[in-house]
Amino acid sequence: MAAAAASSRRMMRLPRGASLILGRPFPSPPAFSSAWKEGDDQLGRMDQRDTWDRFYAAKLEGSGPPGHFDWFFGYREVSDLLHAVLRGLPSGRADVLDVGCGTSSLGLSLYRESPRQLHVCCLDFSPLALEAVGRLLRQSPPPCHPLSELRCRLADATDLASSFERASFHLVLDKGTCDAVLRCPQGPDRARRFMAGCVRVLKPGGSLIQFSDEDPDARVPFLEQAGAANVTVKEIGPKGGISYYAYTIGQKT
Ligand SMILES: C[S@@+](CC[C@H](N)C(=O)[O-])C[C@H]1O[C@@H](n2cnc3c(N)ncnc32)[C@H](O)[C@@H]1O
Repeated sequence: MAAAAASSRRMMRLPRGASLILGRPFPSPPAFSSAWKEGDDQLGRMDQRDTWDRFYAAKLEGSGPPGHFDWFFGYREVSDLLHAVLRGLPSGRADVLDVGCGTSSLGLSLYRESPRQLHVCCLDFSPLALEAVGRLLRQSPPPCHPLSELRCRLADATDLASSFERASFHLVLDKGTCDAVLRCPQGPDRARRFMAGCVRVLKPGGSLIQFSDEDPDARVPFLEQAGAANVTVKEIGPKGGISYYAYTIGQKT
């Protein structure tokens, strides 16, 4: 409990280009400053849909095509790790869930570049984020594997049981979503529900990979308290002077 509370108090580091106002100003480009206005306490509201709708609304403003916005880092930085995990799965189609996908490059690039057949589900509770993913998908070249598919799912990541059967996915990806939930007043409880839901939807032998900027001394005890088994940690980076981590959680076989 103490570790989880300490974990929720930690500051979330921001990707370059994003800003949260926490009493002292962060430099921010216009798109983000108009989404999250100075003086807003958005850090404590990162589990609220309207916070993210405003964030993605600002991204979709303008006539140009939407691009990816990646929290922490993008697909390229972790593609070797992701493909190694996919290679370790039994042959045949692999089912992948990107939980709290936002407009990240992770799910779409994996779908496009994987030589094995993937069914990727990009899940978020922000319809605006999913609208942008849909537009990016329509502009995307076809996937390497002709039978691969990407679908978007509007759902609550803290209640995955309402959306998916137990043991639905070989691989669950979380880049920054558990972190966002953890920062909020009800954070530790909701984040434990989030974790339990992610582990529940893993197939036997499947993996959840959680990308975070939180140090292992805080995150590993939180994950273990949330019931995660076989946690391993790999450092990614540092990128821009910040260390990121990939926490891999295995489903018992
Ligand atoms: C920190 S951003 C990370 C986005 C993306 N994974 C990335 O790497 O860029 C957190 C994302 O989680 C989504 N999110 C937060 N709480 C959620 C919930 N309860 N259910 C579904 N999505 C949620 C937000 O809409 C946002 O897109």
